[in-house]
Amino acid sequence: MTTFRIAPSILSADFARLGEEVKNVVAAGADIIHFDVMDNHYVPNLTIGPLVCQAIRPHVQVPIDVHLMVKPVDRIIPDFAKAGANIITFHPEASEHIDRSLQLIRDHGCKAGLVFNPATPLSYLEHVMDKVDMILIMSVNPGFGGQSFIPQALKKIAEARRLIDESGRDILLEVDGGIKIDNIAAAAKAGADTFVAGSAIFGQPDYKAVIDAMRTQLAT
Ligand code: DX5
Ligand code: ZN
Repeated sequence: MTTFRIAPSILSADFARLGEEVKNVVAAGADIIHFDVMDNHYVPNLTIGPLVCQAIRPHVQVPIDVHLMVKPVDRIIPDFAKAGANIITFHPEASEHIDRSLQLIRDHGCKAGLVFNPATPLSYLEHVMDKVDMILIMSVNPGFGGQSFIPQALKKIAEARRLIDESGRDILLEVDGGIKIDNIAAAAKAGADTFVAGSAIFGQPDYKAVIDAMRTQLAT
């Protein structure tokens, strides 16, 4: 049976009360904390870095999944590893040497992953599948929370699932962008096992109610 994981994106949390927000969302049942890093260069927005990761680390017992939307990629990896990241993913277009970046993440003791924008082909995986611990399929264009799910992502999730099954390796398949209670089941049916949700969770007063409703959908 598939283990499903809910990964709230703290991009939509109240940054003025971030410690409390992460504690509350973990208490509400989050399996992973999704940490969106934007650099106003690779994507047109600017968010948080290793210092904030380090600051929240003592408040969360679950893995921190750092989604790098930055270019260049490599020089920030050691800082996130030191700040307590467990998983680090990056966009292949943002790295000059994809294999090296994946290896660098693993050398720093973290799980490594590649992120695919809506128009980025999965062919980037072809020669590095053995160095990938997570595949993240974007179901919006990266840069902002609160966007609508792009339905074409379902086909790509299914394609990624096929590649993972063929590899026989234990690789997490995460989907990110516009995930809500009413579309999470479709993403799971396509093959995703890890679900990022920002505005759907932090936009509601009762985080547990949303996470429970998502799990109910996943059980159907
Ligand atoms: C978008 C980020 C997402 C975003 C998801 O670039 O990578 O993680 O926070 O937010 P929602 O769930 O609101 O689409
Ligand atoms: Zn993200």
